Amino acid sequence: MYENWEQLRNDCMGCDKCELSRTRTKLVFGVGNENAKVLFIGEGPGANEDLQGEPFVGRGGQLLDKFLAAVDLDRKKNIYIANMVKCRPPQNRDPLPAEQDMCIGWLREQTRLLKPKIIVCLGRISATRIISPDFKVTKQHGQFIEKNGTLMMGTFHPAALLRNPNQKPAALEDFVALRDKIMEVCPETYEM
Ligand code: URA
Repeated sequence: MYENWEQLRNDCMGCDKCELSRTRTKLVFGVGNENAKVLFIGEGPGANEDLQGEPFVGRGGQLLDKFLAAVDLDRKKNIYIANMVKCRPPQNRDPLPAEQDMCIGWLREQTRLLKPKIIVCLGRISATRIISPDFKVTKQHGQFIEKNGTLMMGTFHPAALLRNPNQKPAALEDFVALRDKIMEVCPETYEM
């Protein structure tokens, strides 16, 4: 259990628990305000993230930033963004359950330090692991579920929206619902 972000980040940056650590360029720890009350969880780094060491910096990330900006959220200011796995899976394949198992302790510690009021899962991989194993993004996106005192919501992964732009309006509705929920449970988000 970690007392502060610096210790946690330092230990995580040196992680070699699984095979993904062997092929990474940079480990992608996370980005954002360490006092944020809203945590976004993606899947894992892609090629651009692996090079830059920051989550969601490719085309999907640019789209994510647009949706965030539409509801006055900003990755550097009032939210935190992390991934299920911190190192890039080769060829951008889904992280294996064993890789997720070995990595999830880092996310748990990030969540423990952050104490988010709201967790937003971006896509199937994080929603099925964090919200419920049978979570269906196309059916349950935008719905808030309370789990152990934290509100959780799953929405489309930005890469899925690039493949299926017809889902963008539904995704925007989820972000609008998120803004309403933030105003209700952690309005200080908009003063950060
Ligand atoms: N996709 C993710 O799920 N996370 C990233 O950081 C980049 C792409």
